[in-house]
Amino acid sequence: MAKKTKMRQDTQVLTQGFDPRLSVGSARPAVFRSSTYVFSTPEAAERAFDVASGRAEAEPDERIELIYSRINHPNAEIFEDQIVPLETGATGAVVFNSGMAAIMTALMANLQPGDAVVYTVPLYGGTQKLMEDFLPAWGVRTVPVVAGDRLAMERAIAATEKLKVVFLESPANPTLVMSDIRAAAAAAGDALLLVDNTFLGPVFQHPLALGADIVLYSATKYLGGFSDVIGGVALAADPAHVKLLRGYRILFGNILPPDECWILDSRLPTVKLRMNRQSKNAQRIAEGLDGHPALTHVYYPTLFTDPEQQRVYAAQCDFPGGMLSIELKGGKPAAFEFLRRLKIGRNAVSLGGVETLVCHPKSTTHSGLSQEACRVAGISDGLVRLSIGIEDWRDLLADFEQALES
Ligand SMILES: Cc1ncc(COP(=O)(O)O)c(C=O)c1O
Repeated sequence: MAKKTKMRQDTQVLTQGFDPRLSVGSARPAVFRSSTYVFSTPEAAERAFDVASGRAEAEPDERIELIYSRINHPNAEIFEDQIVPLETGATGAVVFNSGMAAIMTALMANLQPGDAVVYTVPLYGGTQKLMEDFLPAWGVRTVPVVAGDRLAMERAIAATEKLKVVFLESPANPTLVMSDIRAAAAAAGDALLLVDNTFLGPVFQHPLALGADIVLYSATKYLGGFSDVIGGVALAADPAHVKLLRGYRILFGNILPPDECWILDSRLPTVKLRMNRQSKNAQRIAEGLDGHPALTHVYYPTLFTDPEQQRVYAAQCDFPGGMLSIELKGGKPAAFEFLRRLKIGRNAVSLGGVETLVCHPKSTTHSGLSQEACRVAGISDGLVRLSIGIEDWRDLLADFEQALES
């Protein structure tokens, strides 16, 4: 008998989760745009509703019929089945119509008024706003800790009553500061650990393997990879977490539509290729810009000087990734001039695409934060964030150098 070997991630992503027989033999998935599905029998309809609403569990090989595309649809199922092998430790995935929808749903599904959240700063500006303004207005206490300060995080976790969620973004947007995921998981105890893995995952960092409960993505970024689709994903090790998020997704109506799921699905087999190239490019550029006379600092994992940050990077990341930030000596005027002079890098928010995008976080992605929140998080007037694409790194470095000459 042939020896059965477990396939590796690169093979699984192309072979698992899609059955051509269900797409009239098409070698790649078709797009199923229907809003509703015809049941084979009324009993099949009843069973589908019982399972979708959580009143019953599907048997291991039972085929549950589709109902309605706010609840589920084939392109969401295909995408979810195909992304699971890429996220080490995941048993299930839930796709959303944006990264914010994934984050919001994961928070609302696990919090009630009176509960508390400990979160690291900085976070992506939208997520930080959720923590600072939205959740407190709904009766959830939110406790910030500065990213990278492990002892402060452990103290805050221990001191916070009714703690239900610990939320980390590592590396943090836009300062690249890393938080120790394993230490957070150990300290969190019964509280859930949610990790936004947008900057390094699913290729270079594996939070579920380090003890996180739910991993979150803006799929708009590296998963989408071409700056042409908005989406989000949550993945978990425990099937109960996946089921809970699916239930809330039905209520909130924030599933990703079929066309976007199809686009994202087609990008999965190349995410590792793209991210590897982006990481190699970014490392060469970061190290090339380090020490430039117009800069006070280059923020990039291989340039960390703090021994604790070096330790966390070595312990939990395989490669440094495609994001870096630079701090210009001339503050905001110098940062704006740098953006104006770029010839290859484009001045746009978002990140993770094959084309290089550059932005000034304090006046854009993080403009909703107070001066004090920016100061605490290290988001200065001269900070510029670079999302490195797959262009030739020598052309990009030359472009950045000429733009710094002003
Ligand atoms: C780290 C991170 N998390 C979440 C988000 C939100 O994702 P989306 O724009 O897909 O809602 C972003 C967006 O920039 C981000 O950078």
